[in-house]
Amino acid sequence: MNEMRKFLCPEFVFGSGAVSLAGRYAEHMGASKVLLVTDPGVRDAGWTAAVQASLEERDISYELYDAILPNPRDTQVMEGSAFYEEQNCDVILAVGGGSVLDAAKGIGIVAANGGHILDYEGVDAIPEPIPPLICIPTTCGSSADVSQFAIITDTKGHRKIAIISKSVVPDIALIDPDTLETMSHELMAAVCLDTLTHSIEAYVSQAHSFMTDRHALGAIELVGEHLIPALSHREDRTLQAYMMQASLEAGLAFSNASLGLVHAMAHVLGGLKDFPHGICNGLLLQNVCSYNYDACPERYDRITKALRGSCDDIHGKESLVEALAILVEGSGVREELGKFKLSSPECRTLAQMSLKDACIVTNPREPELKEIVSLYEETFTVR
Ligand SMILES: [Fe+2]
Repeated sequence: MNEMRKFLCPEFVFGSGAVSLAGRYAEHMGASKVLLVTDPGVRDAGWTAAVQASLEERDISYELYDAILPNPRDTQVMEGSAFYEEQNCDVILAVGGGSVLDAAKGIGIVAANGGHILDYEGVDAIPEPIPPLICIPTTCGSSADVSQFAIITDTKGHRKIAIISKSVVPDIALIDPDTLETMSHELMAAVCLDTLTHSIEAYVSQAHSFMTDRHALGAIELVGEHLIPALSHREDRTLQAYMMQASLEAGLAFSNASLGLVHAMAHVLGGLKDFPHGICNGLLLQNVCSYNYDACPERYDRITKALRGSCDDIHGKESLVEALAILVEGSGVREELGKFKLSSPECRTLAQMSLKDACIVTNPREPELKEIVSLYEETFTVR
């Protein structure tokens, strides 16, 4: 408890109607022209229009950049930052899921520092602060709205890079659970499993602290109790708000404690194969937790207790895997598994690449190449 630790998080507003505060915060920042970053799905769902209306109410001009795709590409970041410069913008406002928020962070990095986005890979590699950034998440998974992380795909290298810096923590996050209404069931399931993975990996991270532990356990309890009901009752606003709260708490935890082997393996799958991030995490989670268990059994038992609530059976690897299986099977992502198959040579290539991912450093167990190959093979049926 006496060990010196820091904890970083942005200002945030949480609750129904937070989206409508976008214009007010842009005005407080002295915005003359806002770059509004989003994607076609969020635009079609109406959330971009809600933000535009909030800016127009305050007579704040803006330019729309809505070309972001899932697993956001370095090319989109470079195009977006050139557009930011051309249009003389001075504030960035991102509305969307993790891909949009990460791309907006990347646009800010290049706008302030020049060069190429891939130059800023790694920890604390951003010399100049980015322009003022407002983030409005429309999913309950990435937590990019409160985190020090931005994950960008290197399109030529077919890999994802992690940028980790307090420079990419937004100035304000407007977290509105009402935005979850327009997500599909499949996306909701995937992002909630991403949240579960964030909270579990933060709790067992070698960089955990008392503050990250509290938020990680808070998120795990919320997901354990409310994930399946929230997926079955999408009309229930309280249940949706619990999932948004879980995402927030998981984000506060992993932003400060970092992540582990599940994310290292999932990042590589996203970069090389373009597999969806949340589904990769959900599918890998049980096998990786089982592999890691002996490195910190008390911590994993505490996770089982948080997932199972009052249940007495919280000791041992089997209880943990069983508790995770209830959530993973119940969310329906297991049905997606058939779409994501790998060959043995692919598993080896992926394993080699995942050893270089920044998230592997804080995993509670130091994995060998052949162990990661086995984890890929066990999870993704080898064709
Ligand atoms: Fe994630």
